[in-house]
Amino acid sequence: MHHPFLKRFSTEKLNQEQLQTFALQHYQLVKIFVNYMTNLLPKIPDRDAADLFRTVFDDEFGQHTIFRSHPALYRNCLKSLGLPDDAWGRVKPLPEVRQYIEAHLRLTRDADFLIGLGAVGPAHEFAIPTMFDYIIPGLQNNSALTDEDVEYFSMHIIEDKEHAVVFNKLIVRHVKTEEGQSLLRDGAMQSLAYRKRFWDGLELAVFGNNT
Ligand SMILES: [Fe+2]
Ligand SMILES: [Fe+2]
Repeated sequence: MHHPFLKRFSTEKLNQEQLQTFALQHYQLVKIFVNYMTNLLPKIPDRDAADLFRTVFDDEFGQHTIFRSHPALYRNCLKSLGLPDDAWGRVKPLPEVRQYIEAHLRLTRDADFLIGLGAVGPAHEFAIPTMFDYIIPGLQNNSALTDEDVEYFSMHIIEDKEHAVVFNKLIVRHVKTEEGQSLLRDGAMQSLAYRKRFWDGLELAVFGNNT
């Protein structure tokens, strides 16, 4: 959550190409996130918990309009970084990005429900506001991006705190045993380990070998 990449991204001078590299690789994670949720949803054991989950879904898809879905907001940011839409489709994901996505599809689809809950709850919704606090200054100090252009990030700092509350409710309800706790922790730790590798990969891609 406080990876060296994030610290460097928020404080060092970055050129347009470095910002674009970050943004395109990170977009790969943004556009797939909702799949983790759809994997997890049918595994939730009780009905009203599914209703709780629904509010997170509504935010992800964009309330009332797809133009405010989270990937759509992210693409506004890509556009303002000078990236045309064919660049989004053409980008070759880093190996760390591919591994991250494959692991999270697995954790949310094939693993125990509590493992998936740990990966998406504590390791995403809870962790994201801290990480995005580093990203926004990095983007805005090194470009002419307006507050509206970085809305994807600023909005998550607020919304994901609310989402974390939803996940905490599910956790309180379903994690009653030590075994449950360790499954949840295992999911969160696995997710954070893949996240660390993701930032490692981005550090190399954005900054090269000079530390
Ligand atoms: Fe989101
Ligand atoms: Fe969220």
